[in-house]
Amino acid sequence: MPELELVNVSKSFGGLAAVSDVSITFGGSRITGLVGPNGAGKTTLFNLITGMYPPTGGRVLFHGEDITGLAPHHVARRGIGRTFQQVRVFGELTVEQNAMLGLPEVSDSLSVGLLRTGRGRDELLERARKNLEFVKLDHRASELASDLSYAEQKLLMFACLLGLGASTLLLDEPAAGLDPTSHGPVLDTIRQLGGRGHTIVLVEHNLDVIRSCCDEAVFLAEGRVVRTGTPQELISDPELGALYFGMVEGVNA
Ligand SMILES: Nc1ncnc2c1ncn2[C@@H]1O[C@H](COP(=O)(O)OP(=O)(O)OP(=O)(O)O)[C@@H](O)[C@H]1O
Ligand SMILES: [Mg+2]
Repeated sequence: MPELELVNVSKSFGGLAAVSDVSITFGGSRITGLVGPNGAGKTTLFNLITGMYPPTGGRVLFHGEDITGLAPHHVARRGIGRTFQQVRVFGELTVEQNAMLGLPEVSDSLSVGLLRTGRGRDELLERARKNLEFVKLDHRASELASDLSYAEQKLLMFACLLGLGASTLLLDEPAAGLDPTSHGPVLDTIRQLGGRGHTIVLVEHNLDVIRSCCDEAVFLAEGRVVRTGTPQELISDPELGALYFGMVEGVNA
């Protein structure tokens, strides 16, 4: 049974069809790239999966169960986590405290005090530290998050995401804003997450990132699936190149 399945999903904003009749199956232990020009509907698709918006039509299935229209925190509890296009960390808290905020026990308790004292804190701290170790930020645990580089803040977002314990991870442009010299640790972490058995959907404009991380890719344009294939098949397709770069140019003009 596929981990995550979109069945004829659509979303309109007023007269604008942001996502039109999209059907995609995401399987276990696989990194799928979602590519396409600005405004293609990639982030909207994440918003539909995670319950930020109810779809106008179609269904979202997770492990075969219909999760269409569930509230975001219920979707997260089922096992779907996401990162956002913008980095979201609390600069005035330490790296370790940020990682603790990723744990449901802490984020649900609405008690910032649990970050410093309280029953069960040691166990929570240990779990947060394991997630920091995974992204290789454990040596920065007691520094303020604002002292991390931009790339390290992205890694911290991954550590927070891991706290949720989600099996499916939706990553929205994790390499955006990074120069190629600081891609390495972020891409390594994504590949390691795939190797650990997470199902990953990766939205990315940088085709080198798609090529180096993804097993397969889906090309979206104007809210529709145009093609599915290996990254190499999509990247070497002259028709998609024209569509992608032509439309990016059109948007930028
Ligand atoms: N909340 C909203 N209200 C109205 N229109 C929206 C809303 N969210 C998205 N849209 C529109 O839906 C379309 C798809 O947007 P979306 O953000 O999903 O594109 P994207 O593929 O993620 O683009 P990018 O690569 O620039 O991030 C765009 O035309 C956008 O303006
Ligand atoms: Mg987007």
